[in-house]
Amino acid sequence: MAAQSNLRRRVVRQRRHLFALPVLAAAFAAGCMPVTTPAPAATNTPASRVEPPPAPSVAPPTSLPSPRLQGPVSFEAAAARRRSMRSFTDQRLTLAELGQLLWAGQGITSPAGLRAAPSAGALYPLELYAVTPDGVYHYRPQGHQLVLHLAGDMRPALATAALSQSSVAQAAVVIVIAAVYARTAQKYGATRTPRYVVLEAGHVGQNVLLQAVALGLGGVPIGAFYDDQVQAVLKLPADQEPLYLIPIGRPA
Ligand SMILES: Cc1cc2nc3c(=O)[nH]c(=O)nc-3n(C[C@H](O)[C@H](O)[C@H](O)COP(=O)(O)O)c2cc1C
Repeated sequence: MAAQSNLRRRVVRQRRHLFALPVLAAAFAAGCMPVTTPAPAATNTPASRVEPPPAPSVAPPTSLPSPRLQGPVSFEAAAARRRSMRSFTDQRLTLAELGQLLWAGQGITSPAGLRAAPSAGALYPLELYAVTPDGVYHYRPQGHQLVLHLAGDMRPALATAALSQSSVAQAAVVIVIAAVYARTAQKYGATRTPRYVVLEAGHVGQNVLLQAVALGLGGVPIGAFYDDQVQAVLKLPADQEPLYLIPIGRPA
């Protein structure tokens, strides 16, 4: 009961944020997108004092290799083989493997923009991040691209936020599913939204885990973590709540 009223409060809070959503979205997009240096304003400054334009502070998006649509492992075999795996070698993933995992979670699979996992009202409230040894990347389904969100290895800090679970620190990548509840609340309101959004995270999580098996990788879905700490470590936008961490790597 208390949990339900907490959820209601959260959705009401997020509905309040709805008004600010376009602004937040624009701010986040601006932070993620390649910076085009604005043309300097015309001034009377002598040429010798004109500062060079600032270097772009954000790397351009990385296009991921096209996802493969056929593989050597059947759905049945992947479902039968899937087991939570918590120990990994220190081998990294290829860009193609990483792209395939993200595509399985939120990839666009139709000309209309529909995605690999179902979404209530096709409102797509979930955002995926890939926490790698190099940095934290945001997955952009449009264009199947990665955008650098945060440089550096955040896995150790993320593991601390997840009750020091070693699978998080060891994984070649931790796929993070974060939710923007307001996207779903605009249509489904306070009662259905919390349910729909977490159901969707389940769909995405299972797709990612089965794709991992099909790639010869392993992973584990993690729900035990401090939300505020994960938010802080990953510097998630204020309207995004982490729901799942999915460490993935090569079986040790
Ligand atoms: C919602 C949810 C939260 C979970 N959280 C954790 C977790 O924090 N740490 C962990 O090691 N496993 C976690 N698991 C994995 C379960 O422990 C695991 O699925 C269960 O033991 C069954 O084993 P199997 O996945 O190998 O079939 C979680 C699973 C679910 C569905």
